Amino acid sequence: MIYKIPDLDYKYSDLEPYIDAKTMEIHHGKHHQSYVDNLNRTLEGVKDVDDLNVIDLLKNINKIPADRRQNVINNAGGHANHSFFWKIMTPKKSDLSQDLRDSLVATFGSVNLFKENLQRKH
Ligand SMILES: [Fe+2]
Repeated sequence: MIYKIPDLDYKYSDLEPYIDAKTMEIHHGKHHQSYVDNLNRTLEGVKDVDDLNVIDLLKNINKIPADRRQNVINNAGGHANHSFFWKIMTPKKSDLSQDLRDSLVATFGSVNLFKENLQRKH
């Protein structure tokens, strides 16, 4: 399999003001692309992994020759993590699920107290 960075469902600037367009461009177009390029280069000539998505590749890491294994772990991990990140980010606002709201209230007393607590620690 030749791995590729996924297209985003939103524009780089859509997450502003929380994440600026330049940061998104660097992480998607350069950082993530580097992980994918390094992964594809490291896997050249490796047999029995052609049909594996990146998660299954990591689950089957013993199929990778030992001298390339750590490089695959690092780059496949970077690819998987970034791919996950792009999916969970969204410019759309949504309400908290009832489960999350209940947990925040149980732990912090209210959603606003959670927000205050979060900001105080950074
Ligand atoms: Fe990144």
